[in-house]
Amino acid sequence: MGAVLVAGGAGYIGSHAVKALRRTGRDVVVYDNLSAGHLAAVRGAEFVLGDIADTARLRQVIRRHGVTSVMHFAAWLAVGESVRDPAGYYRNNVIGTLALLEAVVAEAVPAFVLSSTCAVYGEPERTPIAEDHPTHPINAYGETKLAIEHALPHYERAYGLRAIRLRYFNAAGADPEGDLGEDHDPEIHLIPRAIAAARGGPPLRVFGTDYPTPDGTCLRDYIHVTDLADAHLAALRALEGGGASQAYNLGNGRPHSVLEVVAAVERVAGRPVPTSVSPRREGDPAVLYASTERITRDLGWRPGLSDLDAIVGTAWQWHERHPAGYGERQS
Ligand SMILES: NC(=O)c1ccc[n+]([C@@H]2O[C@H](COP(=O)([O-])OP(=O)(O)OC[C@H]3O[C@@H](n4cnc5c(N)ncnc54)[C@H](O)[C@@H]3O)[C@@H](O)[C@H]2O)c1
Repeated sequence: MGAVLVAGGAGYIGSHAVKALRRTGRDVVVYDNLSAGHLAAVRGAEFVLGDIADTARLRQVIRRHGVTSVMHFAAWLAVGESVRDPAGYYRNNVIGTLALLEAVVAEAVPAFVLSSTCAVYGEPERTPIAEDHPTHPINAYGETKLAIEHALPHYERAYGLRAIRLRYFNAAGADPEGDLGEDHDPEIHLIPRAIAAARGGPPLRVFGTDYPTPDGTCLRDYIHVTDLADAHLAALRALEGGGASQAYNLGNGRPHSVLEVVAAVERVAGRPVPTSVSPRREGDPAVLYASTERITRDLGWRPGLSDLDAIVGTAWQWHERHPAGYGERQS
């Protein structure tokens, strides 16, 4: 088996996947433009600074390192920003990914794992959401991911590329060994923002307390980043063993409200999380959680770290040890 190219491997989820791959002894090449990632998050793998839009460079890297599979994490992922700057999101997430795919098929790489998202579903018609739920994204971010999901079966028919699309719900937590964690700038995710509030940062804004849920706040599905990394290994094993292309949800299947997350952070931190209440955000469904029956049935994957306090605990530990995140900012 050749090397795995991890596009976006200097980012939050990609870096955890790289660690999991290295643990299984795979050779890994991280390819990242560091627009949002951190060099310090790349451990034990080759690093190439580059943009996924650069097909020629990608072809060189694939050849030089004997790459036989690709995991693709490199994308922008802020929903609100995608609404304000759809052109940038289509350029980076769609045009960029098509350029990466061009290199992949030109070099006859046969296996591709895509980071997709529950944002492809849009407003849920029913929960838990299974993979056959209609896909009607309600923002440009979700549309860019769905555009690539729609392209992949055509690439398979024409060029033989098999692909697994992993639709993550809310990625959360940090490497339990403390090596890696979440360091987005700006941070848009609930758990690190709640942790920042507990550590003396600005109060956590709770968007909407009048949803039709038990405590009035939104319910979401938090999946530990190490479980996501393990699912990538399972997907790669399946593809490399000749398995079929497929889309799989990745969640922990148990929804938690914003206030439950706040309470979990308070328990883990032993400190209060100051909050302020803001109106609902447009396009925030009341309830989003996954059915993961398909990936359990097909690939034998199930979440290992599904307890909310355990998820929050790993994140808290990382932020305690790394108050400035990775401590370097790319401009
Ligand atoms: N974080 C979540 O909760 C979540 C949920 C669903 C899906 N996803 C998807 O998972 C993937 C990874 O998310 P993350 O939280 O690790 O994000 P991240 O921003 O931490 O990581 C993305 C990485 O890709 C790199 N990158 C972006 N554009 C690039 C380009 N044009 N060329 C080369 N490198 C580029 C960035 O520098 C960064 O290192 C994304 O595709 C995202 O859409 C994330």
